[in-house]
Amino acid sequence: MSDFPDVRVITHPLVQHKLTLMRQKDLSTSSFRRLLGEISKLMAYEVTRDMPTTLTEIETPLETMLSPVIEGRKTVFVVIMRAGSGFLDGMLDVVPGARVGHIGLYRDPKSLVAVEYYFKMPGEMHERDAIVLDPMLATGNSAVAAVDRLKETRPRSIRFVSLVSAPEGIRTFQAAHPDVPIYTAAIDRQLNEHGYIVPGLGDAGDRMFGTK
Ligand code: URA
Repeated sequence: MSDFPDVRVITHPLVQHKLTLMRQKDLSTSSFRRLLGEISKLMAYEVTRDMPTTLTEIETPLETMLSPVIEGRKTVFVVIMRAGSGFLDGMLDVVPGARVGHIGLYRDPKSLVAVEYYFKMPGEMHERDAIVLDPMLATGNSAVAAVDRLKETRPRSIRFVSLVSAPEGIRTFQAAHPDVPIYTAAIDRQLNEHGYIVPGLGDAGDRMFGTK
């Protein structure tokens, strides 16, 4: 039994296989990016599993019928900059009608408090289901700050999606936002003294963009 029964760990073999490839240090930037795109598409299936549908009348070649559709524009993917952007394209492939919001935060080196430098959401947030994207749930501090800020816009629901999570980050996030479910592909052992997840995959942003 997991220490975190409320966390939805996406154990699909394709997700786990691709994550294993991504963890390896010699993988090229382009392969890392491609795999992240592939994984995000697969994770989108799980994260959107209980999306509300409405019935619409359509005509098949044989007769009319009532058939379910998703209201794509009710979904807003909220990217936590910058690594969250790597998750976005795959998610949009699966939900092309979704809107996209961005949150930029940095940690003040003196106070260690998360400071917002960018925040842009679509209108009518109270009608939208927000899916927050950040590949690494490490200390949880920026995830908590991002969701604190997002809640000010009163979205209809919020989910949080990460690729790799640390136990410390999950505890911090769940303490602050027990109402926001976490979806992740892995819960790793711990954070190291530099705030990296171990075994982890390194700095997701650097690996995605080839920066260092
Ligand atoms: N952010 C990353 O990109 N990697 C970590 O291990 C922790 C935070």
